[in-house]
Amino acid sequence: MSRVVVTGRVPDAAIEKLRAEHEVNAWTAPESIGREELLRRVAGADAVVSLLTERIDGELLDAAGPQLKVVANVAVGYDNIDVPACTQRGVVATNTPGVLTDATADIAMGLVLMATRRLGEGERLIRSGQAWKWGMFFLLGSSLQGKTLGVVGMGGIGQATARRAKAFGMEIVYQSRSELDPGIAADLGARRLDLDELLAVSDVVSLHCPYGPATHHLIGAEQLTAMKSSAYLVNTARGPIVDEAALASALREGQIAGAGLDVYEHEPRVHPALLELENVVLLPHLGSATVETRTAMAMLAADNTLAVLGGARPPAPIN
Ligand code: DGY
Repeated sequence: MSRVVVTGRVPDAAIEKLRAEHEVNAWTAPESIGREELLRRVAGADAVVSLLTERIDGELLDAAGPQLKVVANVAVGYDNIDVPACTQRGVVATNTPGVLTDATADIAMGLVLMATRRLGEGERLIRSGQAWKWGMFFLLGSSLQGKTLGVVGMGGIGQATARRAKAFGMEIVYQSRSELDPGIAADLGARRLDLDELLAVSDVVSLHCPYGPATHHLIGAEQLTAMKSSAYLVNTARGPIVDEAALASALREGQIAGAGLDVYEHEPRVHPALLELENVVLLPHLGSATVETRTAMAMLAADNTLAVLGGARPPAPIN
């Protein structure tokens, strides 16, 4: 029997699955586990099931000890994990791709609609108790039909967002390290562009690339200036892909029309300038937040853990 430490609350089904084979020590309080407590708890663990709010670095791996075999992140993004540090110590790192694709694409499309149709502004107006009445020019947004969606990062979530946008009558362009499978590209009618071209032609730019040194501030002042003044930016990937101060200033100055964000540069802190603006929709990292999706993520993390502890290749290895 191995010792599994779970760093935060996850659906019971995953804990039961792990407990059927191993000793499980799970953090169950609603608030995040503190760093000190985390370092204390992982000592002697064979497996760590981690949430994206916990930093898994050399210090933590050393605190766990040389018997540690696997770090199973309950997320598709793994910028919270120092993967080279895991590899160096012979620790397998895993993530949860696939199972949150549709839920995240739903939120991306939701943000596209909220931003372009000014749904947040409308909701806030009603709740404020202010007088309002239907008017020809009241809270006009912009239509999606015939407009262009620029997808940055055309992996599973980017493709799922493009499929939704296509159903709303949008044209699809994308920027990605590799060319789409020709069948999928034809299905979506998607054209591959470089980032500059994509920014210049898109009416909505939606970010779906992973975060790392290569994508830090991928969208900054220069890129925002390159966008149409009528365009919108949507980010459901990772906050630091966007220079938030530059975005706030572009929104304030009307360099772009609006934005929809589910993730933040210094999450959970939101840049105070964004809070002052009407033309940005702000969600609290809800991309994968459905009961079904969170359960599937936790079960895949449990499967990853059990596979490594059992000496098998996990379903979703990173390294
Ligand atoms: C992920 O899995 O990376 C998501 O951001 C979680 O919502």
